[in-house]
Amino acid sequence: MVQRNPHIASLHGNYLFPEIEKRRKDFLQHTPHAKLISLGIGDTTEPLSYTAARAIEEKGKAMATCLGYSGYGPTQGLTALRHAISQRFYGNAISPDELFISDGAKCDIGRLQLLFGPEAVAAVQDPAYPVYVDSAVAIGQGGAWDEQQRGYRKIVYLPCTPENNFFPDLHQLAGYNIDLLYICSPNNPTGMVATSYQLEQLVAFARSKGSIIVFDAAYAPFIRDPSLPRSIYEIEGAREVAIEIGSFSKWGGFTGVRLGWSVVPEELCYSDGTPLQHDWQRLLATLFNGASILAQCAGLALLTEEGWRDIHLLTEHYLANAAVLRQAIASTGHSGYGGENIPYLWVPFAGLRSWEIFTRLLEEAHLLVTPGSGFGPTGEGFIRLSAFGEQGAIAEAATRLSNFLRNRLPEPSKLS
Ligand code: MLT
Repeated sequence: MVQRNPHIASLHGNYLFPEIEKRRKDFLQHTPHAKLISLGIGDTTEPLSYTAARAIEEKGKAMATCLGYSGYGPTQGLTALRHAISQRFYGNAISPDELFISDGAKCDIGRLQLLFGPEAVAAVQDPAYPVYVDSAVAIGQGGAWDEQQRGYRKIVYLPCTPENNFFPDLHQLAGYNIDLLYICSPNNPTGMVATSYQLEQLVAFARSKGSIIVFDAAYAPFIRDPSLPRSIYEIEGAREVAIEIGSFSKWGGFTGVRLGWSVVPEELCYSDGTPLQHDWQRLLATLFNGASILAQCAGLALLTEEGWRDIHLLTEHYLANAAVLRQAIASTGHSGYGGENIPYLWVPFAGLRSWEIFTRLLEEAHLLVTPGSGFGPTGEGFIRLSAFGEQGAIAEAATRLSNFLRNRLPEPSKLS
């Protein structure tokens, strides 16, 4: 008999979002007439930009002709798309040769684990998008699950709380040899954006310790505040220490189309001097045959002037939803974070557990949310609200949420 991979076996519980989906289905079985509104998974709801849809149609039709048909594309992605990303996101400061087109951020983060192997020590913001920890555990970097700490023994969790403005206190890493530091900004789930100063500290830390930053910038086009950095490479010295992950999913409505990219700068090397780019290229050529040509053509269309205007409207829509939810929470005097440069809000409920709030919102307000504890131990007592939704549904959700906060919860002063 074949032995089970012990690293996969050490993954604790289910992946967060299928677990939420399971609870939604169970609830609807008992309460089939409930008009549930989802503020749960960050899945886009608005139609695809017409510019992108037209590009898919045109390429699809061309593929049905002898002249227009193409088979495998370049593993690294279409040259035109890499040029367009370089220009639109990095002001040409990143060379198209340093850009690797993928089928989405999540898949890239999973594949990245193979570059570092089971011995690497990973540190994550806590709370964090669960894919960093789960994929690190799957490759063997996690060690055993610690029920008391609600985390894996070998992962270093960096608490991000209102007290540290949701950015890790790097001094707490003094005694550790950290290989990989996962940072997400704008942040899923807290909805906060790292400042230039915070990223400068981070890059200085990575340079002094020889660590590699995996910077997840999947939500960067939602940033409206011009003083906030959209890429780690805006910080001097980052090229030698950071990989950046980008995605078309959330701002481009591509959660179903699938398209993303990674940036692996030329200067980024392992301790033996081998460029990471070398191994990334080798790995992708072995494991991946490039993103769908149709998705790449759609992505290219989004980066044209016409497509980018569509993106502005799309991102404005979700940010306006977030503002409605923010306002609903503020009107009750309850605190909440984020929701200004990313459509996620992070809401604390002192004295209550995340899954408890989840269940109460589901049963009493027919709202589906994401329990904060699913993002890491420091997320306990919080919930995440996603503002990816249709305008009318979000307005109704905001009413239900404020009623719940006003009428169903004990006064904050009466909570422990
Ligand atoms: C989320 O945070 O809602 C995610 O983006 C969903 C996922 O990709 O797992």
